[in-house]
Amino acid sequence: MSKMEKIGRADIQIGDQTMACPLYEGTEGEKALDIGALRKETGLITYDPGFMNTGSCSSDVTFIDGEKGILRYRGYDVDDLAENCEFVEVAYLLIHGSLPTAEQKARYSDLLNKHSMIHEDMREFFSHYPEHSHPMAVLSAMAVSLSSFYPELGENHKEDLDMTVTRLLSKLRTIAAFSYKKSIGDPAVYPQHDLKYCENFLNMMFNSPVIENPYNQTMVSALNKLLIIHADHEQNCSASVVRAVGSSGANLYASISAGICALWGPLHGGANQHVIEMLEGIQAEGGDIDKVIEKAKNKRSPFRLMGFGHRVYKSYDPRAKIAKALCKEVIASTNKHDPLLDIAMELEEKALADPYFIERGLYPNVDFYTGLTYREMGIPTNMFTVMFAIGRLPGWIAQFMEMKKDPQGRIARPRQIYTGPNARKVIPIDKR
Ligand code: SDX
Repeated sequence: MSKMEKIGRADIQIGDQTMACPLYEGTEGEKALDIGALRKETGLITYDPGFMNTGSCSSDVTFIDGEKGILRYRGYDVDDLAENCEFVEVAYLLIHGSLPTAEQKARYSDLLNKHSMIHEDMREFFSHYPEHSHPMAVLSAMAVSLSSFYPELGENHKEDLDMTVTRLLSKLRTIAAFSYKKSIGDPAVYPQHDLKYCENFLNMMFNSPVIENPYNQTMVSALNKLLIIHADHEQNCSASVVRAVGSSGANLYASISAGICALWGPLHGGANQHVIEMLEGIQAEGGDIDKVIEKAKNKRSPFRLMGFGHRVYKSYDPRAKIAKALCKEVIASTNKHDPLLDIAMELEEKALADPYFIERGLYPNVDFYTGLTYREMGIPTNMFTVMFAIGRLPGWIAQFMEMKKDPQGRIARPRQIYTGPNARKVIPIDKR
């Protein structure tokens, strides 16, 4: 349970009624008003569309300071973790709360290897999806289907946590690679016991009898860091969905499947795919950056600069800094030049100098450079959000587990202000 400390109270005056609300402070100085008794004592509810000012829980998992551009998983800065750890260690950290010892990491790696295959009946599913199915639809459907193949994950299962977690972490990665191979008509490449998590994925994605060296070690290292910077992000849209679905008692696989669907949206994880499509559009139309920036500022246009802006970061997303450096490293390792990177960097430079973006604290977010890096690895654009999901999986699991253990936890069920018609009687259809 997290260490919220009661530091006082705030009195809310409603007409001649005063309601005393406890004031709490978290371990990094964040403060919250506890309005848990508001409706009972005053009959009022709060109104906060998009939950811009609403804390849904207290959590020990991730801390973000949007003004200072700080992101920490269980107290460790994300750049420290990206520099010094493997993704598997960070997954363990998020779920268990501490970095693994060498022995704990070895057991995790052994379990990840044991769980890396999927049931052959499940592999058959791929041949029944229409050819151009979006990989996020396949991933979400396959995630919830795991609960049919592993029913022991029921409400009262006592399966070892590491077994459940490593099964999901390992099989979701295999499912992603298998769905890619199916989409290009190639035979599935099975996981290999002697390859670590990230290299196993690239091998399953790109190994082919007719391609020599389908990936390089710079890509393996970059993928490891990319998955780390995506691993969690406190109560973002998809994590909140995982918590909400799990709060009804639905199992972990069903909750993760819902989280995958939430992540798919272009305003959330789907943005990385839309960034590339935006950059390709700029390139196709002659590279007029100023025109795109003006369009993004035009209130009459629904167009937004994809990969820019964030609900919490009003400064440079620390993950975007890491992703930008990785993008340059991977492109350099292929001795190729990607004109889209030039467009992206010019777009960033001009936007960051524009008062519209400066006044609103709009900076590149995690999605702005990641797609360019995946593209350089050979990952198709429609799989970029799948990559986000593979990275975010340990964070979703950690949030789910914390929600299940929360003594204050209850089913997620917000209230509303009704604005529909007042009571009225049905008129028989021949008189309507
Ligand atoms: C992720 O929550 C998380 O933590 C998410 C995430 C994670 O790790 O889980 O970080 C991952 O989802 C990153 C965000 C990816 N999405 C995009 O890149 C899509 C483009 N960005 C925007 O749609 C937007 O910035 C959001 C959705 C990310 C945030 O929207 P908010 O917090 O609701 O902000 P807002 O819409 O209230 O914007 C404030 C102002 C508005 O202008 P005004 O009404 O004040 O005049 O900024 C403008 C917006 O119009 N604005 C943009 C803009 N983003 C905000 N204008 C142009 N281009 C943009 N990208």
